[in-house]
Amino acid sequence: MMKRMGKKYTVLAIIAVLFVSAIAGINLSDHALGKEKPRKPIIIQGPMPIEAENFAKRLDHVKVEKSGSFVFYKGKLDNYPVIVAKTGKGMENTAAATAIAIEKYKPAAIINQGTSGGHDPSLNVFDVVLGKQTVNLGSLKTPHLEENEGIKPTSWIPMDLMASEGSAGEDPDAEKARYFEGDKELLAAANAVKDKYTKGKVIEGTIGSADVWNNEVDRIKWFHENFGTSVEEMEGASAAQISKSYDVPFLGIRVLSNNKTNGGAYDPTTAAANQDYVYEVVKEYIAKKKSK
Ligand code: 5AD
Repeated sequence: MMKRMGKKYTVLAIIAVLFVSAIAGINLSDHALGKEKPRKPIIIQGPMPIEAENFAKRLDHVKVEKSGSFVFYKGKLDNYPVIVAKTGKGMENTAAATAIAIEKYKPAAIINQGTSGGHDPSLNVFDVVLGKQTVNLGSLKTPHLEENEGIKPTSWIPMDLMASEGSAGEDPDAEKARYFEGDKELLAAANAVKDKYTKGKVIEGTIGSADVWNNEVDRIKWFHENFGTSVEEMEGASAAQISKSYDVPFLGIRVLSNNKTNGGAYDPTTAAANQDYVYEVVKEYIAKKKSK
């Protein structure tokens, strides 16, 4: 009797195992047929805690991962993978955080967002600039001057470090600024939801970046006239350059937190307003991606 029961259970166990493996087999073959598409994440970069954490809080199922001083909040938005990266301030932090994120997470797109200072007097604190172009304002070559001839910053020449693999100091082809283009699909998504931003206007413009905070109005004017900058900040061109190295679609989105050219006083609450707008941009971009 006991023997027969044992046999019965063994048969049942074999049937159960076969059933489970059959289901697993179906899933495997579904995956192999490409029915379950693994989605590449969208990365949203913010340099300071006030420029990243608001967005991170709005993601579902967040897992925090760290690499060096860089913090990645991996989560979901509308069931699509989104990673908020707190990069730290400046060009070096941003370049490293961008390269690490691309190598680790293979993103579909990168948005670099945060605060900025106005170079265009027609832009006010809380206005948002979509980076149709991004340019490095620290990439400069000085003309030759002898001892005691002084320093003449307005005669400094833009320098393109990506012009060739040779010496940028000696190459006449490198005597120009390099502009990184904002991705068309990201720009389209940002333009499609600009009416949802009610705290200021949203325009397309040029974002200038360097590890410099300019407070000299004439110097700001010089950049505006010679580089066509709408705003300055310290990260965009760095993230744009690394994204281009890997061919990852990129867009900078910057709110004015201050504007020296028209007396716009610094307001840190602009950082949260920008994240609310960028959230809408990402939702729109995801909706378009899902419908493809
Ligand atoms: N000049 C340079 N950086 C600025 N930022 C905001 N306003 C300016 C400005 N006028 C941003 C930078 C950096 C931090 C200091 O604030 O991108 O992350």
